[in-house]
Amino acid sequence: MTDQIFAGLEIRGLRVAFDGFVAVDGVDLSVPRGDIRFLIGPNGAGKTTIVDAVTGLVRATGSVEFGEQQLLGLDVHKIARLGVGRTFQTATIFEELTVLQNLDIAAGAGRGARTLLRRRKGVPESVARALETIGLTEHIGKPAGVLAHGQKQWLEIGMLLVQDAKLLLLDEPVAGMSADERDATGELLGVIAADRTVVIVEHDMEFLRKYARTVTVLHAGKVLSEGSVADVQADPKVQEVYLGTAADAAVAEASDDPARPADPAHTVNQEA
Ligand SMILES: Nc1ncnc2c1ncn2[C@@H]1O[C@H](COP(=O)(O)OP(=O)(O)OP(=O)(O)O)[C@@H](O)[C@H]1O
Ligand SMILES: [Mg+2]
Repeated sequence: MTDQIFAGLEIRGLRVAFDGFVAVDGVDLSVPRGDIRFLIGPNGAGKTTIVDAVTGLVRATGSVEFGEQQLLGLDVHKIARLGVGRTFQTATIFEELTVLQNLDIAAGAGRGARTLLRRRKGVPESVARALETIGLTEHIGKPAGVLAHGQKQWLEIGMLLVQDAKLLLLDEPVAGMSADERDATGELLGVIAADRTVVIVEHDMEFLRKYARTVTVLHAGKVLSEGSVADVQADPKVQEVYLGTAADAAVAEASDDPARPADPAHTVNQEA
């Protein structure tokens, strides 16, 4: 029943260490169903590692619940079958196969080999719906390799939709996209989130301002700030670490000696 009220992602005390280096250090994260949550933070903040932990790619401690199901400790395939899908920064589609074949393989991922090998008549309903959602219906017969950069990312998202993913974790999907492709992706996020939960790692600030519902800022493996776009932008802690370059520039400008750049370490010490 709580499952119906929440049915989102609940992360508690998540910790990931690589040979003693703590990449994710006690992260709590609640993402309700229907949210479009942006994860931002400087390079190395632990964003991708959180996605890896949720999807079973790295070992982690703490708790990761989706609905009422504990995901930590399950293997990658089991987590995918529970409706958790992710994309990688470089699209992982089969370039030589057609758009339809890519979706077909994804749709068959949970089925037996015999079902997969059976010749199909027409396009399965789930595949047709995904094609419509990602806007690739007219490209159904093209090899995925000839698609534009943005279309490849959308195909990858389509592959998660035909797998019936209810939680989608997207790692920097708009990197390298044109402005039009970004806007189309933003619209797509809105459609997807109507009955799913979306967590998106993204560096693009303009995209974030336009399409984020909520934002979690990570820094050095910890949650630094959380809230609406306006909330986190107004948070001095965020300005200090995430927009550090802008702050440093301001300090440099105000410096007595214009030839000498401000020492960022000194700036941080002043704040402490
Ligand atoms: N397999 C690994 N082995 C050792 N260290 C790792 C491994 N994966 C990640 N790390 C380290 O963990 C930290 C967090 O990395 P992560 O990739 O999660 O950062 P990120 O926030 O996604 O950064 P970016 O914005 O650059 O993608 C980094 O210091 C990184 O070097
Ligand atoms: Mg990353």
